[in-house]
This record gives sequence, C-alpha cells and structure tokens, in this order.
Amino acid sequence: MSGSRGRVPELETTCGALPPQAACLGKMCWLLFLWGTLHTCPTQASVLLAQQLPQQVTSPGYPEPYLKGQESHTDIEAPEGFVVRLVFQDFDIEPSPGCEGDSVTISTRGTDAIWLCGQHASSLESTPGHREFVSSGRSLRLTFRAHSPSQNKITHSHKGFLALYQAVAVNQPNGDSEAVTTPGADCPRIQNHCQDPYYEAKQTGTFNCPSLGTWKDRQDKEQVPQCVPVCGRPVIPIAQNPKTSGSSPAKLGNFPWQAFTSIYGRGGGALLGDRWILTAAHTIYPKDSVYLRKNKSVEVFLGHTDVDELLKLGNHPVRRVVVHPDYRQHESHNFNGDIALLELQHSVPLGPNLLPVCLPDNETLYHSGLWGYVSGFGVEMGWLTTKLKYSQLPVAPREACEAWLHQKQRTEVFSDNMFCAGDENQVNSVCQGDSGSVYVVWDNRTLHWVATGIVSWGIGCGKGYGFYTKVLSYVDWIKRVMDGKD
Ligand SMILES: *[C@@H]1O[C@H](CO)[C@@H](O)[C@H](O)[C@H]1NC(C)=O
Ligand SMILES: *[C@@H]1O[C@H](CO)[C@@H](O)[C@H](O)[C@H]1NC(C)=O
Ligand SMILES: *[C@@H]1O[C@H](CO)[C@@H](O)[C@H](O)[C@H]1NC(C)=O
Repeated sequence: MSGSRGRVPELETTCGALPPQAACLGKMCWLLFLWGTLHTCPTQASVLLAQQLPQQVTSPGYPEPYLKGQESHTDIEAPEGFVVRLVFQDFDIEPSPGCEGDSVTISTRGTDAIWLCGQHASSLESTPGHREFVSSGRSLRLTFRAHSPSQNKITHSHKGFLALYQAVAVNQPNGDSEAVTTPGADCPRIQNHCQDPYYEAKQTGTFNCPSLGTWKDRQDKEQVPQCVPVCGRPVIPIAQNPKTSGSSPAKLGNFPWQAFTSIYGRGGGALLGDRWILTAAHTIYPKDSVYLRKNKSVEVFLGHTDVDELLKLGNHPVRRVVVHPDYRQHESHNFNGDIALLELQHSVPLGPNLLPVCLPDNETLYHSGLWGYVSGFGVEMGWLTTKLKYSQLPVAPREACEAWLHQKQRTEVFSDNMFCAGDENQVNSVCQGDSGSVYVVWDNRTLHWVATGIVSWGIGCGKGYGFYTKVLSYVDWIKRVMDGKD
C-alpha cells in the first residue's frame, strides 16, 4: 500500500505506465493518468487531481475484463476549499457473498470505508445506480480489489468500473438547494441572478469572488444562483410619524413579515427566512388548562393586511411545530421561554407584501428609550380587527416595569429573557390576538428592521406596560432549529 497524498507517486516502470509528466497535455493530463496502464501490477497507487469538469476514473483495464489477484488505490484530491464528488457510470464487479470477494471501497478522511461489491441479480451488467459519493475533506480514496481465483475456476469475466469525479464546493444555506461552485468559474457571471430586492446572492466563504460559480440543485437539473432572502427591508417602509400613542392601520407592505395564525383563536407571528414563522409558545400551548385537545390544527396566513384577503390567499400548511423547551404551559404566571417556531411545508415566494424580518445580534437593540413598532390583528377597543394595525412604543426601563408590577401586587415572573415596552400612563394598545406578533426596532448599524421582541403577556389591555419575549436570548436556539440541529 504505497498510496501517497498530495503528490504524484512514483510509478514502477516495470508496470509499463507512462511517466505522469509525459501524460500531461493540458486538461487531458489526468485522463491518460489512469489505472488502465497499470493492470499488470499487483498493487498500485495513483493520485488524481479533481477539476471543474468531470473526468473519468476506471478500474485497471476497463472495459476489458479485469485480471484477478490485484489491488490498487487511487487518491482523488480537490483544490483547497473544494471536495470530491464521485458518481459511478458503470459498475461490473464479480458478485461475492458479504463482499468477501472482489470489491471497491471508497474512504474519505474521518469516515469509514464504503464497500461496494458485485450484485448477484444481474451478473454481467450491474450498475449501482447514479449514487453520489462526496468526500468529507479534500480527498477521497478508491481501492479496487480483485482476489485471486478460487478453486472454483468457472468465473464470468467482469469489466470493473467507470466513474466520473470532479471538484465541487458544497454549501448548503437552507436545505433546499445545494450550491455547487466549480473552480475556475467566471466570478462576475452570476452576480445579478437573484431577484432584487427580495433575495440576494449568498457569499461563499471559501473563494475570493463576491459570489461565484454556478449553482445546481441536487439532481444537477438546472443551474441556479444561491439566493437567500433579504430580511428587515420592507419595500414600502412605514411613514415615520411623530410618535403617537394608540394604534394606526398599517399599509400593505409596511410589516411584510406579519403572519396571522389561527390555533387557539387568533395570534400573530413573523416570517423568518422564507419558511419559518416565529411566534409565542403560548399561542400553541395556552396557559389556560381548559384546553385539553393536544393536536390543534395550526393555520398560518401571510402576505396581506386584511384578514379576509389573507383567508382568500390560503393557509400555509405547517410541517413542524417547535416549542422552546423552557416553556412551562402549566405555570400560569411564568411566561419564560414563550417562543416557538413553525416550519412551513413549502417556502413562500417573497415579494413586496411578504418579506422576512431579521434577528437581533446585539444588546444595544434593547436600550430603554429606543422606539419600536408592534403590529398585529388583535383586539382593539374590545373588537377583533379585520385590518392589521400597529403602534409605536418605546423600550421601557426594566426597573420601571418591575416597580409597576410590584405596585399592582402581581406575581408574574419577569425574567431576563423578557423586556417590557410602553409607558405607564399610556394605553397599551397591544392586546389579545396580538400574541406571537413581533416588536421591531430599526438597527441603525445594519440598516434592517429587527424583531427584538415577541408579544407575550400583559396585565389587561388598559394603561401600562406590555411584556415581550427577548428574542436575543433565543437566537442560538432559533438558528439551531432552523438549521435542523435541534
Ligand atoms: C397527535 O398527533 C400525533 C401524530 O399525528 C399522534 O401520534 C398523537 O397520538 C396525537 N395525540 C393526540 C392527543 O391526539
Ligand atoms: C454591539 O453594538 C456595539 C455598538 O454598535 C458594538 O460596539 C459592539 O461590538 C456590538 N456587539 C456585538 C456582539 O456585535
Ligand atoms: C444608532 O442609534 C443609537 C440609539 O438611538 C444611537 O445612540 C447611535 O448614535 C446611532 N448610531 C448611528 C450610527 O446612527
């Protein structure tokens, strides 16, 4: 076993191979540098460099029947920042029970070898399908073993295998499409493929170009750029009014992340990315224990400011409901962990009336006195509204809210994972039905609207403060859930 990584191995001239230098003619170099010439050697090793274009690698002598009693290795290496992808085109290995006879193994740094053997079902022309093998690091090792003939000499002849390999940069943003960049691709070519201003091209950390390469979905069917949603940038921003108390009707597109939910009555939420809804856990598991039904249907509506229009646009089916593990449904005075995520079955197409909000990344977004907006379809003056409305409220000093609760002899938990907003002497226009909707502030560093709070609880709907889930405390959890790791 003399396989060496990172350099072209020395070939024994007795094997009849061309010196590798002589075999190199531009891109044709590696096509000539295959196992084909090495079949008389009992053990051989070679290194192939994966490039942009798929290239062939075969077992020794392919497509002639391979000789028994040999073993060979090929290391395939990709350039820095890329991995090797390998797909078999033809696979014809003598079948053996339990892979004891002839085999092909694929190993990649840090993972156990994958063993491939002949299949009995179709003895001569068996192909393992176009299964894709991707290295975990920059290189991948293929080992071909053909055992010496057994006592039973009657064996069919088998061709061995032919596979294609290439270098790809793998990058998975939100699960649906896999971005494949290829070395040497034109950098500027795809820069404007994303539907501005709703999506932007995602930067790929591994290369110098601002955005590069070509993008393919998993089936390699078409080339698409890797476009990610732009958050917190309504195309119809809210008119900055003088600060007023009470609520005002929102215009279409002012709060494009606003979701309308129907679970136990109405609630709100906010779009994250193009497939997730951020909401309050208590809209899914209400504190009142009168609700015994566990599997309540969860309906989500998006893209309008009018309830009737929302209903006409239709429900977005939910694939998964994830409630924060700290949430305690049965502790009626404790709304800690009042946060949940709803994963939609399908991504939503973004547009002027449907855009995600950003997540907070800094404690500075919670400074008291900072003004923000809360929007929702909740109760107003005792009536359920059919139109989206919003209020402008300042982040309140924590001590003021603590004193206010104390003075009212309230026992609700006001944890560090909450903050309060509003004014002691102003009507808190946030009320029932607004739960789960978000409180947003303008981040003057990143120039995006950020959902810093989720409408969680309050003391009636009269004068005073409202209490919000502090989203910053849960950003790591949110990202883990959205990345499918929780
Ligand atoms: C809720 O639904 C799940 C899956 O559909 C089912 O396994 C479970 O038994 C249901 N629970 C109740 C209380 O109906
Ligand atoms: C938060 O914002 C402040 C002020 O802009 C900045 O100095 C600080 O580095 C930021 N912190 C983080 C963690 O980004
Ligand atoms: C951003 O807003 C904060 C709070 O209002 C303010 O103190 C800071 O100076 C602003 N920064 C910029 C760059 O405008």
